[in-house]
Amino acid sequence: ADPVLVAIDGPAGSGKSSVSRAAAARLGFGILDTGAAYRALAWAALQTGADLDDEASMLALLDAWHYSITLLGAQRVEVELGGAPARHDVTAAIREHAVSGQVSRVSKHPEVRERLNAMFRRIVAESGLPGVVIEGRDITTVVAPNAPVRILMTASPEVRAQRRAGELAGMSQEQVLADIAARDAKDAQVVDFMHPAPGVRLVDTSDLDFEQSVEAVVGIVREVS
Ligand code: C5P
Repeated sequence: ADPVLVAIDGPAGSGKSSVSRAAAARLGFGILDTGAAYRALAWAALQTGADLDDEASMLALLDAWHYSITLLGAQRVEVELGGAPARHDVTAAIREHAVSGQVSRVSKHPEVRERLNAMFRRIVAESGLPGVVIEGRDITTVVAPNAPVRILMTASPEVRAQRRAGELAGMSQEQVLADIAARDAKDAQVVDFMHPAPGVRLVDTSDLDFEQSVEAVVGIVREVS
């Protein structure tokens, strides 16, 4: 049987990644972080010197790469680039500022999005798991619009900056706020992830702590399935 899908969208710092991960663990589901693939593609482009703004170059990279991500337990992301058979563990590298600051340049290309969306659907279908939480920006609207559970997770810009600053040691809160505001602004030109599409449940975590946010998601899933 196909896995039960829980689609979660939201901006950086909404709690989406950590809450989705904990909710998936509690449900016995896998977790697919789609942003990791966009980050890995940006990493690959930076690594090979390809032009991130050139869609054809990004598609050529996608033709040649092998991408793998673990859906259970600690997430590991690995990339193999064509011509260089070595496997790169990019789990940590894709979280660095060098990648975060450039990733919107690769995620803006429509055909890149289509190719990655097809890859996400394949990863879920082949997972062999009872359920998968899939999180990103366009999951509720494009990747899995028919998922039985669709959630948009939000939080105020101030709360999001506070949470991110806690994760990124050495950066001031102002710097973090400026960074995520800039990335959200670029990303929002491609996908509207700030407003729930019809039928999508809004979970605002501004006044929820981590545990309450996880409970909110798990509660919605249990209500529906
Ligand atoms: O979720 P995360 O912040 O790791 O996503 C990194 C980047 O990947 C986003 O800033 C966005 O440009 C892109 N992304 C996307 N669509 C998704 C997930 C991520 O465009 N479904």
